[in-house]
Amino acid sequence: MSGAALVEVAGLHKRYLAHGPEAVAGIDFSIVEGEIFGLLGPNGAGKTTTIGAITTRVKPSAGLVTVDGFDVARDAVSVKQRIAVIPQRPNLDRSLTAIENLVFHAAYFGEPRRTRRRRAEEMLERMGLEGRADDKVDTYSGGMAQRLMIARALMHEPRLLILDEPTTVLDPQSRLFLWDTMTDLRERGVTLMLTTHDMVEADRLCDRIAVVDHGTIIALDTPRGLRSLLPAERGVEVTVAGAQPLELPGGDGVESVEGRVEEDRWHGRVYGDVTAARLAELVRAADRDLIELRRMEGTLEDVFVHLTGRELR
Ligand SMILES: Nc1ncnc2c1ncn2[C@@H]1O[C@H](COP(=O)(O)OP(=O)(O)O)[C@@H](O)[C@H]1O
Ligand SMILES: [Mg+2]
Repeated sequence: MSGAALVEVAGLHKRYLAHGPEAVAGIDFSIVEGEIFGLLGPNGAGKTTTIGAITTRVKPSAGLVTVDGFDVARDAVSVKQRIAVIPQRPNLDRSLTAIENLVFHAAYFGEPRRTRRRRAEEMLERMGLEGRADDKVDTYSGGMAQRLMIARALMHEPRLLILDEPTTVLDPQSRLFLWDTMTDLRERGVTLMLTTHDMVEADRLCDRIAVVDHGTIIALDTPRGLRSLLPAERGVEVTVAGAQPLELPGGDGVESVEGRVEEDRWHGRVYGDVTAARLAELVRAADRDLIELRRMEGTLEDVFVHLTGRELR
């Protein structure tokens, strides 16, 4: 990735109890301005602790964390102005209305009195909550409460928005809304960090992913780069019309071919360094109709199992 680092984490350790195990056991990474950065790992991996160190809530046992150049340990106020967190559990004031929650937040961050309400209304509208501004948060569903937390988080225009397992408890529709919101925010120039144990979510949203396990980072790359860690088969899966196997000439990186005929189609796996584009040409040259073509790629789930020998969930 290009661009400057907005967050730098160097040699971070956290031990909660003097003689207990390390929740975070020495991790290093940076988050580049404008990206969606993911921490992917099972429960207890140290994701929330790492977030805590960035947001000043957790005091590191060792290591250095900076946000926009400010040392989290020495300049917490400057750090807090630049970031916002959506915690794993809602922390709204349930006895207040939605708009009151936002206005109080704005006051806390020093927004002038006359612009607070207008800005709150803007944020509620952006999150699709404009009709519910004066309802008590008590009456909100889980998905709505989360949208309200995002609206509140955006009130002070953070450079970095951190979401801790944002979709674990959401219904599918709220989950899609959240994913759209996150990509939309990235387009508006907000840098995002999320933690998840959901492979599909990490794969779909993140520009880069750190895979964490037992308090350490065991891999850090783009989703595609992580997949390439798999010793998985290289090649292309192809489906062509007609009940005969596709005859391929040698060369073009084709190492071997296997396939089966099913309902007047041939489904094949072409192993080797052959590209999908070249294979499409070969299909055409063989005078066959191409129905489907895709690269064989493992999932992030496979990557995790490959790296740790365990299932993620
Ligand atoms: N306040 C705390 N006191 C003691 N141990 C904690 C505390 N918070 C987390 N831990 C422990 O630290 C480890 C990492 O936890 P956490 O950072 O919450 O992981 P994750 O968010 O990946 O599930 C776990 O073993 C957890 O039990
Ligand atoms: Mg957690």
